[in-house]
Order: sequence, then structure tokens, then C-alpha cells
Amino acid sequence: MDEKKLVTLAIESSCDETAVALIRGGREVLSNIISSQIDIHKAYGGVVPEIASRHHLENINHVTQRALDEAGMTMDDVDFFSVTYGPGLIGALVIGVATAKAFSLATGKPLVGVHHIHGHISANYLQYPDLEPPFMALVVSGGHTNIVRVTEYNDLHTIGQTRDDAVGEAFDKVARVLGLPYPGGPAIDRLAKEGDREAIHFKRVLLDDGTYDFSFSGIKTAVLNYVNGEKQKGNEVNAADVAASFQEAVLDVIVAKSVGAALDSGEDKLVVAGGVAANSRLREKLTEACGEHGIRLCIPPAVLCTDNAAMIGAAGHYSYIKGNTSDLSLDAIAHLPL
Ligand code: KG4
Ligand code: ZN
Repeated sequence: MDEKKLVTLAIESSCDETAVALIRGGREVLSNIISSQIDIHKAYGGVVPEIASRHHLENINHVTQRALDEAGMTMDDVDFFSVTYGPGLIGALVIGVATAKAFSLATGKPLVGVHHIHGHISANYLQYPDLEPPFMALVVSGGHTNIVRVTEYNDLHTIGQTRDDAVGEAFDKVARVLGLPYPGGPAIDRLAKEGDREAIHFKRVLLDDGTYDFSFSGIKTAVLNYVNGEKQKGNEVNAADVAASFQEAVLDVIVAKSVGAALDSGEDKLVVAGGVAANSRLREKLTEACGEHGIRLCIPPAVLCTDNAAMIGAAGHYSYIKGNTSDLSLDAIAHLPL
């Protein structure tokens, strides 16, 4: 079988997007359907796990049909199934895993379990057809902040990670302090453009500690203290300045550590992934830093950065051709190490 012709139907349901995609040869997106629940969870200021799983269950079949229709395919054209089995919200993951297992059982076609972070990184294979390991990867999302050394398609080593909150979580929490809507990342990104990033100094946590680790739980409190302090003094808070200064503090550390990791290990490519990779200031800063050091920077467009199933299909492809398939005992795992 020509590997480039292999078609996978991929499913992602680890958080609040019900997503199904058809991917050929690990690189070509035939369809990429994402049914977002953001509007539903907005009312609660964050993802409510029970509501997320119920909506996955209601949506998964018609999202699958739409993905097949858009690709002009039927189940007969699918060679194997790829599915996110962790990490994520357990009740949400279970829906995707059970659906993929049912498809595999009904068709007799193989099943591949995919790690969500492996998926995020693999979004880059869809955007950059010539990209191949080895490279350094930065994964920045609502659930993760990892620096991962990718030596081969299926060989990933986490060399740094957050010790507490994920960076997207920090964006979401600070947005809430500033009274911005959920999800906070895009709102802060927009507002920061009108602010002065040097207006307030927030600490660059762990910047020079000699590791590739991060910590973002303190900055929300620092922002909250600043806002309350100004209010107590009777000063009006300039939300755009707070957003810009917070964003700069967080991104300074992320850029320094990820570019530093690439340089230290002699990698000449930095691959970025995850919802926060959509951030316009992060893109600007990484472009500048990578340009300075002769590192090739890869960042997919926003639609491939936030949760989607196309990235799961890309990762699934490389697992499948290595023979890493799963059987029907595949289980969803909320805390799955990479
Ligand atoms: O990858 P993702 O869709 O889901 C997870 O796997 O977590 O990431 C969602 C996160 C949210 O925290 C959201 O606020 C953040 O990505 N995000 C952004 C931007 N767009 C999404 N953060 C900063 N700037 C953005 N433009
Ligand atoms: Zn994600």
C-alpha cells in the first residue's frame, strides 16, 4: 500500500470541540469539521465538563457524516481510525474513543490512539509539507505548556513544562479579572494591541532558573493585586495597558525558553502549536527571535492551532505506519504522559 494514499478518519473530543477530519498520507486535509461549544460554555465563563460530554454525544455522528460528505467519501474509503485518547476531560474523551472503537469494530479497520499533544505538534505537518523531525516544539494551549524535543515522528521528549497553570489558563483567568469574555486569550490579544506593554512591570517568572519549566499561577494574583490596588487608590484601571503588560511578561519567558531550548540542543527548527499559538504578539516575538538566531519558525494558521481533528489524523498516520495500532481495549486517559 502506498503510504501517501492512506486515508484516516480522525476524531478529537478532549475538551469543548467535537471534531472529525479526513486526512490522506498524514499531510493532506480532505475535510476538517469542528463543532465548537464555546458559545454554550461562555455563559459559565469556562468549560463545564458534564455539558461538554453531553454535546459531544449529541454531535459526534453528524459531525462525522459532514466530514465524510465534505471529503466526498464513505466509510469504504477510510483505511483506519485515529482518535485522541488523552489527556483531557475524561467524560469528553470517552465519547470520541467509544465512537472510534465502534467504527473500528463495525468496519474491521484498525484503530490508532493519539496523544493530544502529539496531535497539536503534528498540525505542522499539514501546514508545512517539507517539515520533518528532528525539531524543537513549543506547545501552548489552554491545558498545556510544554517544550518538546521531537527526534522522530513518534519519538517525543518533554524537556520543559508548566509546574502549575497552563499559559492559556493564565490568559483566561486574567481576562476574567479584566471583565473580558471567555475564552480570554483572543480578547487579551485584541485589547493588548491598544495598550502599552511597558506600562506595568509583572515579574518574568522562572526566566533565569536554568530549566525549561514555566509557572503561570502567580501572575493572575499579581494582576488582581494591581487592579485592586489601583481601584483602592481611586485610579482608573487602563485594561489595555494591563492586558499588554501581562501578555508581554508571559511571552518574554515563553520565547526565551523555547528559542533557548532549540539553540541549546542544536535544532534549527522551532515548531509551535496549541491554541495560544494563535496569539499575534507571540508570532511577532518568535519571528523576531528566530530570525535573529537563524532558526526556521513553523506556526500553523489559527484553525490548526486550536483543537481540531486534522492534527490528530496527521499524528495518527505516523503512528499507524510504524505499526502502533490499538485494539478495542483502548481507554480514555485523563492524565496521559507524553
Ligand atoms: O489548544 P486549545 O484550543 O485547547 C486546549 O487544548 O487547551 O487552546 C485553547 C486556549 C484557551 O486558553 C484560549 O484562551 C487560548 O488557547 N487562545 C489564545 C488565543 N487564541 C486562543 N491565547 C492567546 N491569544 C490568542 N489569540
Ligand atoms: Zn488542545
